[in-house]
Amino acid sequence: MKANGKEETRLVVVSNRLPLALRREGEEWRFEAGSGGLVTALGPVLKDRGGLWIGWPGNRDPIDREVLRHILGPVSKASGYRLIPVILEKEHIENYYEGFANASIWPLFHDLQMACLFQPRFWEAYRDVNSRFARIVRRHSRGSDFIWVHDYHLMHLALELKKRNNNRRCAFFLHIPFPSPDIFLKLPWRYEVMEALAAFDFVGFQTLRDRQNFQACLRSFWPSSRVRGRGPVVRISRNEGNIIAGALPISIDFTHFMNLTRSKTARETVKALREAHGTRKILLGVDRLDYTKGIPQRLEAYERALELYDELREKVVFVQIVVPSREGVDAYSRLRDEITQTVSRINGRFATTNWTPLTFFFRSFPADELAGFYRAADIAAVTPLRDGMNLVAKEYCACHADNDGVLILSEFAGAAGQLAPEALLVNPHDIEGLARTLLKAFEMAPQERQSRMRRLRRIIRRRDIFWWVDNFLRAAAGKALRDFPPGDLAPLVPQPLERHLS
Ligand code: UDP
Ligand code: G6P
Repeated sequence: MKANGKEETRLVVVSNRLPLALRREGEEWRFEAGSGGLVTALGPVLKDRGGLWIGWPGNRDPIDREVLRHILGPVSKASGYRLIPVILEKEHIENYYEGFANASIWPLFHDLQMACLFQPRFWEAYRDVNSRFARIVRRHSRGSDFIWVHDYHLMHLALELKKRNNNRRCAFFLHIPFPSPDIFLKLPWRYEVMEALAAFDFVGFQTLRDRQNFQACLRSFWPSSRVRGRGPVVRISRNEGNIIAGALPISIDFTHFMNLTRSKTARETVKALREAHGTRKILLGVDRLDYTKGIPQRLEAYERALELYDELREKVVFVQIVVPSREGVDAYSRLRDEITQTVSRINGRFATTNWTPLTFFFRSFPADELAGFYRAADIAAVTPLRDGMNLVAKEYCACHADNDGVLILSEFAGAAGQLAPEALLVNPHDIEGLARTLLKAFEMAPQERQSRMRRLRRIIRRRDIFWWVDNFLRAAAGKALRDFPPGDLAPLVPQPLERHLS
């Protein structure tokens, strides 16, 4: 509360996941950082803002509330914002998270309609869980707060809040692509989802293409709607009420990533990789386990490049990191098996007594170690079949303060809209073309590598995560991040957070 008695506007972030994932190991609860771009991007934004972050703590087994409080309390203090958990039951995890969010919307919005599973019970659970989130948002927020909802799990939230006569200002950002009408209209609950999105005061997308797809879908339900304005943010007028929509590409904390390469862990990682691979060029892939990331296609292209170009053999090593993800969804466990088999086939075919063409990690690395991988890599291959943005592409460039390194980037990653002129653009479905690009990256002259990387870094530095959040908040709330009250929570907990586990 301000001295003049007026309540301050706090930032209330709502996403399916809190920035941590809890899991049970025997009698103990352990937590690790949540995976994926949403968590990486929002962490630095919210740090010390003193707002709230509402979401699921990722636990699959039931957890005692007191134990949860003991875990989340210190994490809240350490992060500078309060974490409010939303507990999901087993059937919610199966039908809302693994079902509607990850087996219906995720493939549909990534243009992979054949992979979609549509079940009425998924949709019911989706509305139930959105309604549960709305109850919790209502309980923990106050009238002056600004509610910022993230991603496809919670598209129904504003509508649920409105049903409860809750008129808090509420904006939405979609981290994944928005499909064209040809694809979106296949969703059995297409009208309901559009109506729910239209209930937000502001809807943000990663790219202009996503925003235009949204406008086109909106027009198929409300043909008389009109778009007003030019530039990234437009007003769409309908008889039922106006919608403000924006195209605002998310980014990273550029300086933080750049500085991470100077950490002890990053330097040790670079040294270890260099010792292991000598003068061979390192090609790096970093992805969550996901069929949208194009991992099998990338491996196949590497195999094809080794077949076609003798000059690559024994001169390059491909380091592929895959972070485990969504293992409860069948398509993900099948993908894991496919990748493991392909890796062993390629190594079996091409390895020599002193060279293994592929090193495969199936686990997550902390940011400082990952920065070491980025820094050591001569080439990064970021080749998703479709991606909202892809932060790995930006992190790789941020870690190359030496202005060296080549970025190979899929045309279908949101990041291509910003980085296209300087990255080597590829169609990830074109295996031969991707193999040729691998050779091109391998042979690129130092001068060209450096001038491209310098320009890539300039683009990313100018439009970093703080640029993104300020622009989003100005467009959606009429305020910059610094206008939200700074944290009033206790400072960092002195001892390791693990001590607080029961
Ligand atoms: N990441 C990580 N550890 C790893 C691999 C990846 O922390 O071992 C992070 C990476 O830094 C990036 C995020 O995971 O911020 C992946 O985000 P991206 O936008 O590339 O893809 P998403 O997983 O969100 O689809
Ligand atoms: C993508 C999505 C996020 C999601 C993340 C990890 O980045 O946009 O909303 O949190 O993947 O996926 P998970 O299912 O583990 O939350």
